[in-house]
Amino acid sequence: MTDSMHIPFARPWITDEDRAAVLEVLNGHILTHGPQCKSFEQEFVAFMGGGHAVSVSSCMAALHLSYLHFGIGLGDEVIVPAQTHVATAHAVEWVGATPVFVDCDSRTGNLTASAIEPALTPKTKAISVVHFAGIPCDMPPIVDLAQRYNLRIIEDCAIALGARYRGRHVGLFGDAGCFSFYPVKHMTTGEGGMFVSRHEDVAQAVAKLRAFGVDRTHSERAVPGMYDVPSLGLNYRMSEIQAALGRSQLRRMSVVLAQRASQFDRYRKLAGNLSNIRFIDTDAAECRSSHYCASVVFEGEYAGKRNEMVERLNTAGIGTSIYYPQPVPRMTYYRKKYGCVPGRYPQAEHISDHSVALPLGMHVGDGDVDRIVDTLKSSLTKSANEKGFTR
Ligand SMILES: Cc1ncc(COP(=O)(O)O)c(C=O)c1O
Repeated sequence: MTDSMHIPFARPWITDEDRAAVLEVLNGHILTHGPQCKSFEQEFVAFMGGGHAVSVSSCMAALHLSYLHFGIGLGDEVIVPAQTHVATAHAVEWVGATPVFVDCDSRTGNLTASAIEPALTPKTKAISVVHFAGIPCDMPPIVDLAQRYNLRIIEDCAIALGARYRGRHVGLFGDAGCFSFYPVKHMTTGEGGMFVSRHEDVAQAVAKLRAFGVDRTHSERAVPGMYDVPSLGLNYRMSEIQAALGRSQLRRMSVVLAQRASQFDRYRKLAGNLSNIRFIDTDAAECRSSHYCASVVFEGEYAGKRNEMVERLNTAGIGTSIYYPQPVPRMTYYRKKYGCVPGRYPQAEHISDHSVALPLGMHVGDGDVDRIVDTLKSSLTKSANEKGFTR
């Protein structure tokens, strides 16, 4: 197979403009504490259409800062989706609070208010929602629940940049929104993330917490090198190099989102009616998905064939991934700590065990989706005909 036949699951889209932006920073002398991060934060807010942004070193850092800022810790419980990346739960663990896992909706992979409510206890202090695969959660009932029970909402938007609910960008419904710029995300800064809040005072406090708890930035110091530290903090800053790359990438987000939407539509058109497979998807008119990936769930006679399908697709040069490889409570750390019996989170388990994520993004060329779907179809046919295929 030639390299041109290989379609990776994901690949960062780096252009000459990106390279020039990074080089400009390297040719200067400010690598951190500079204007790039400030501008990136302002441009990110403009992209979202509101809020206040603080650039950080990763989405996990943004999540950790959220719990620290809101004083959530030992003895507190936080609702966490079973269907997510471990970072969502790890951030809760690191502040000493307890993640209380809740199963997801089978169609979207998202938390719903009706699933969250029975898991609330007097110890619950926050709800962490994840907008799975770029599909916004149905936020109004979750916001209503949080108001009734006086809970914080921490939105994990790591894979949902560009997703909107009734026009409002995800991350602007709750008390904090956390974004990731890891290489396979909608845009990248290598590693990196953004903390957002609707409240300026929250963003200002988190900006200090992210930088050792120092009371003034370089530009605010009357005497260079002179500052005080009134509170504990961390170093979760983003560098100027990363921010320059992020600014350049952000400028192309509309192209990225349009390309992903059109590829997802093509997948749906070509494979949406195949029996015993379905896409993680929504048809809710108020949801604008940002199409992080095309996750196919195998059902019925194909339910046990996911690993076989992955092998067949990979052998044909089609890269795949799995979102997420296990419900978080089934991961060893959490299983050992909290216990997890099979069947406890049936929808998340079903998605983890029976789905594959197909390529989507700028690296997927014209005709690639057709080829991927053809390969998927022929793999399903071969699987039905060839008994005894083992992994
Ligand atoms: C839902 C979710 N949250 C958090 C993260 C962690 O992001 P980061 O690598 O920027 O810390 C990921 C990473 O894929 C994710 O999928």
